[in-house]
Order: sequence, then C-alpha cells, then structure tokens
Amino acid sequence: MANISGFSKLSKQEKVDWICKHYLDNHQEAKHKITQYWNSDAKLQKLHDEFAENTISNYYLPFGVAPNFKINQQTYAIPMAIEESSVVAAASKAAKFWDDKGGFKTKVLGTTKVGHVHFMCKAKPQQVEDFFKQIETQLYADAKPLTKNMEKRGGGITGITLINKTNQLDNYYQLHCHFETKDAMGANFINSCLEQFGKTLEAQAVKYEDFTSENRPEVVMCILSNYVPECLVKAEVSCPIQQLGSTEAEAQNFAKRFKQAIDIATIEPYRAVTHNKGIMNGIDAVVLATGNDFRAVEAGIHAYAAKDGQYRSLTQVELTDTQFTFSIEIPLAIGTIGGLTSLHPLVKVALAMLGEPSAEELMQIIAVAGLAQNFAAVNSLVTTGIQKGHMKMHLMNILNQFEATEAERQKAVEYFKTHTATHSEVVKFITQLRA
Ligand code: MEV
Repeated sequence: MANISGFSKLSKQEKVDWICKHYLDNHQEAKHKITQYWNSDAKLQKLHDEFAENTISNYYLPFGVAPNFKINQQTYAIPMAIEESSVVAAASKAAKFWDDKGGFKTKVLGTTKVGHVHFMCKAKPQQVEDFFKQIETQLYADAKPLTKNMEKRGGGITGITLINKTNQLDNYYQLHCHFETKDAMGANFINSCLEQFGKTLEAQAVKYEDFTSENRPEVVMCILSNYVPECLVKAEVSCPIQQLGSTEAEAQNFAKRFKQAIDIATIEPYRAVTHNKGIMNGIDAVVLATGNDFRAVEAGIHAYAAKDGQYRSLTQVELTDTQFTFSIEIPLAIGTIGGLTSLHPLVKVALAMLGEPSAEELMQIIAVAGLAQNFAAVNSLVTTGIQKGHMKMHLMNILNQFEATEAERQKAVEYFKTHTATHSEVVKFITQLRA
C-alpha cells in the first residue's frame, strides 16, 4: 500500500487513478464503479465535490417520502434519506395509523443552545469570580460585531455564566454560554462568539491587577456543545385504548404488551440502545434529508437518553384505564437556513416539501418521525416480530443482487409469502428457477 504527499492537490481524475492503482485490484473496473456516479451536470457535480475535501465520487442514499403525517392538524409528507429497508414503510404505516386518531401533537419546550470557553486558572475562586464580574459586559461588547445580524433576527447571546469545576479537575473553570440562533443551527455563530470570548478573557486577564503571570486564566478551548438539553421538543400521540385493536381484548393486550416493551427499554440499557436506535432511524433520515448534522443530533440525543446516569428509552407510555398516550422528548439543535440547507438542491426540495419550515417546526417534524418509527418498531416487536416486514425488503435486495427479471421477482414474491426468505433459501429458489 502506498503513501502520497499532495493528494489534495491532484485533480479528481488523478485522485481516482492514484487510488485505483494503489488500493484497488481491478483498476479499470474500480475506475468505472467510482466514476459512473459522477453527475453529467458539471455545475451540480462541482457543488457536491466542494462540500468536502478529496472527493472522488458521489455516494447515493435513497431519498424517500413518508406521506400522511398529521402534525398539529396539518398534513405533511416527510422526506427521509436512508439506506435501511423498511424504515420509510414503517413511518408511513405509523402515520396512517394515527391519522384518524387525532394525529401527532407536538411542542417545542426550549430553543437554547450551549457552548463553552474551557479555561484553567490557578488563582483563588473568589478572584476568578471577581474578574468575571468585571469583564462580563466586555465579553458581550467585544462580540457585538458577530452578534449584530443574529440580533436583528431575534437571536444572540442569551447568557454567560462562570462555572467553577475545580472540584472535578484542578484549576478548571468554564464560561457556560447560552445562545438563541433562531432558524440557523448556529454552529459557526456560536463557535465564533466563543472564540471571541476566549480572546477577551485572555486579553482582560493580562490587564487585571489581581492576576500574575503564574495564576492568570489560560484558555484551553472554545467550542459549542452538542448536548442541548434546553433545546427540547416533545411529540405525542394518544387514543382510547379500544382503538388499538379490533376487539376490546386485543386492544387491551396490545396496550399492555406495548407498555411492557417501553418499560423494559426504560430500565434495561441493552434494550434501550436498540429501542433508541430504531427511533434514530426516523430522526436521522429526516435530519439528513433536510441537510442537518446527524452526528451532532445523534450525540446530543444519546447523551439526553442517559441524563439521569443510566441510558434509557427516549419514549414513554402512559396508560390510564381507558387512554393510551405515547410520547417522545428529545433535544434537537437543527436549522432550516444556512449550511447545506441553502446549497444542496435535494435539501432545498425536502424543505420545500415541508412548506419551508422554521427550525422550531422542523424540530417538531423530526420528533414525530422518531416517535412514529418507534411506534412501528415496537408494534411489530410485540405482535408479529420484525422479521416478517424486514424479510420482504431483504428478499428484494437479494433479488436485486441477482439482477432478477420482473417475472422472476413475481414468482419469488409469491413463493416467499409462505416461506421464510433467508439468504440461502432465496439463492436456492433463484438457482432452481433459472435451471
Ligand atoms: C432496526 O433498524 C431497528 C429496530 O431494531 C428497533 C427496535 O428494536 O425497536 C427494529
């Protein structure tokens, strides 16, 4: 395997040639596989190439739509970018199920985003506090050129607090900063403000008489936090228990088993992780389709699932004698302006499809996608099991691998209605059919 210096300076074609020559066995075939995904529209291709560095091709994900989502009495078709089979189908099924039962109700509980200036200081805690009081207004003033535009849109810095963490780490303090970024995810805005706070802190510290060169604050880093427990959204569905089945007994049994599944995911981390993974199937797909940062959302949501010290289910069920209520509460720092949202043509389509939502509206739609996904997964798990639905898509994927004709597909679908579609059984079926 080869090394190279200056890879980033090579043209795209040269990068492909180099990687194929040194890392891929069948050069010509590999080159074809990579370049067949290049878009013939040069301008569009350039746009995609420039999203990231060292791009050699495009990596497609299916862009699907889950229709019929009634959210706060308004109907949405939700765009989902996801490679996993059954996810979009499950979301659509859940949407349909809740459509005539009042649909989804949602509420944004907060929109505060967070970031920190992490710094070390050997001075006495009281000295650090006094210093902070003295520079607080300066912190805001020096950041003014950065906050002016955000303030015009109703956002800005909403608080700066000094936190003493020296009981956990020697000499460690932080400026815990709150931001309102309105429709922007705001990562650049927040990080720029924090870096300015860091500069102000160090510059003011040099002038501060109580500090010496030995005990002056030293900034370690300035960065937003993807843990945003005050940027929170809630989604809920509710219906009389009797509507959960075709008979009273069936409905009661379903409600009981559904609640047991949620209770298990609440106390058992092994189950909670898979349970929440299913929720993220819905959330990530919408986050991705709308051009948001799914890694940030994932990190923040999983941290929230462990907020009381144990990793737990993100969804809850409440059962009264007659009523079933199922809800989710998650932190979501997302945006509908800036970043990819104004660059990626399909992201623009996704946002248009949702009626150009504000960030708060999108938070609610995303929470609904997560709740719907969880409803569908748990519904299957406590009734038929998930393999029945999964295997249908699995069958299609295997048939695709074999480049099955339409006639072969129809025969396979018919046959596997009554047989289990394991990989080996499908291969056997196709081989026999072709023989
Ligand atoms: C698969 O992607 C997701 C599920 O495992 C979620 C769950 O178990 O709740 C079906």
